[in-house]
Amino acid sequence: MIADLDRILISRERIAGRVKEMAKAIAETYAADEAAGLTIVTILSGSLIFLADLIRELPLKMKIGLITVSSYRGETTAPLGARIDRDLNVDVAGRHVLLLDDILDTGGTLRVVRERVAAAGAKSIRTCVLLRKLAKAPADVPAEFVGFDIEDDFVVGYGLDYNDYYRNLPDIGVLRPELYKS
Ligand code: XMP
Repeated sequence: MIADLDRILISRERIAGRVKEMAKAIAETYAADEAAGLTIVTILSGSLIFLADLIRELPLKMKIGLITVSSYRGETTAPLGARIDRDLNVDVAGRHVLLLDDILDTGGTLRVVRERVAAAGAKSIRTCVLLRKLAKAPADVPAEFVGFDIEDDFVVGYGLDYNDYYRNLPDIGVLRPELYKS
């Protein structure tokens, strides 16, 4: 698995440190209005490991919602648009929602989920992403909590996949381009 990487981009130690910092900022933001209730809407499957680590650093009463969105198809890394595959499994009406995604790339995924959550009557919507490809992220898809800004490389590990592989890598690495570019 490691042999398929061009390089490690973000070590597991740096991820752990940054996740703690993000949790602190998130806790401060939501502590003021705990009564309304917080739901973390997690975009599957890439955010699984991020979710597990982040929520254990968050001393807030919260619910977890899940939604599955597809943006990459099969053997290609080119975005083909985003589509909800499995709808949100909880009611978020009147609740604060924190959207959680592994990476903000072209913004298509978060745009679709934000629209869905807004239509469901959320009281507020904020976004938390572990990674952001700053050069590509569009202005209309804001993220209030960002772990790391990265270059436009295709990254895997810590939940992020290529063709459903590499999610179990504890670090985030850049995939060797010859493995996905024809
Ligand atoms: P968009 O373009 O919709 O992309 O903002 C967000 C979703 O696309 C996937 N994605 C990646 N997955 N390495 C990955 O493993 C990447 O470099 C990458 N860029 C985008 C990811 O599922 C994310 O939720």
